[in-house]
Amino acid sequence: MSDVGIKVEGLTKIFGSGDTEVRILEDASLEVKKGEFAALVAPSGAGKTTLLMMLGCVERPTGGKIWLGDELVWDENRWSIPDTRRIRREKLGFIFQAHYLIPFLNIIENVKLIPLTNGWSEKRAEKKAMELLEYFDIGDKREAMPRQLSGGQNQRAAIARALSNEPQIILADEPTAALDMTRAVNVVKMLRKIVEEQNVAIIMVTHDERLLPYCDKILAIENRKVVTKTQVPKGFV
Ligand SMILES: Nc1ncnc2c1ncn2[C@@H]1O[C@H](COP(=O)(O)OP(=O)(O)OP(=O)(O)O)[C@@H](O)[C@H]1O
Ligand SMILES: [Mg+2]
Repeated sequence: MSDVGIKVEGLTKIFGSGDTEVRILEDASLEVKKGEFAALVAPSGAGKTTLLMMLGCVERPTGGKIWLGDELVWDENRWSIPDTRRIRREKLGFIFQAHYLIPFLNIIENVKLIPLTNGWSEKRAEKKAMELLEYFDIGDKREAMPRQLSGGQNQRAAIARALSNEPQIILADEPTAALDMTRAVNVVKMLRKIVEEQNVAIIMVTHDERLLPYCDKILAIENRKVVTKTQVPKGFV
């Protein structure tokens, strides 16, 4: 077992062709190790969400290679695994700006859904979900519906759900954008703790410079490449 969380080599992404061609990434490379928390910063439209969607095996790259852990998942022009949904269910946790809880399931049902889909027993899924809800201080909301929770509580429930399958990799697209600063910092501190305790690799897109001190490194998209910054790049918001 290596310490690779996410590795990308020579990644290219082009939308459309001819007059409508948009080049997002060209020969881009990056690596995030297990136990490493990376921020991804770049101006709007630079391709942050597109990159996360490729890493999440949702969007097809145009070329290059992607490894998730030791597994090569994209090899130049094809998925090199038979089932991309399996990877998402078993290895990945997604956190989005809008939380996307399922509105007609209560909070604990939302959190248990992926473990149950992965074949966990009801008892094990219930135990894991309760642990997470208590950790995020919303254990008392287990029977509530998403509409009955505040924005911050919903976002914490969504993070609990993203962690419910014990992912090795977390992809977070502006997870704190809808939160006030105190809550945003709390969420990022929680992610930091998970990185350290569970050895997961995280890439978090953010426009907020104040959250960067909680990350181990800063990745930026510049000239269609992914570069590692030692300082906060100017004007990334
Ligand atoms: N399916 C698509 N077809 C064509 N172009 C697309 C598609 N998806 C995204 N794009 C284009 O790719 C570029 C990058 O989009 P993306 O959503 O990845 O940017 P972003 O860095 O996440 O921006 P933001 O900070 O605003 O969320 C944009 O110019 C967008 O219009
Ligand atoms: Mg985006």
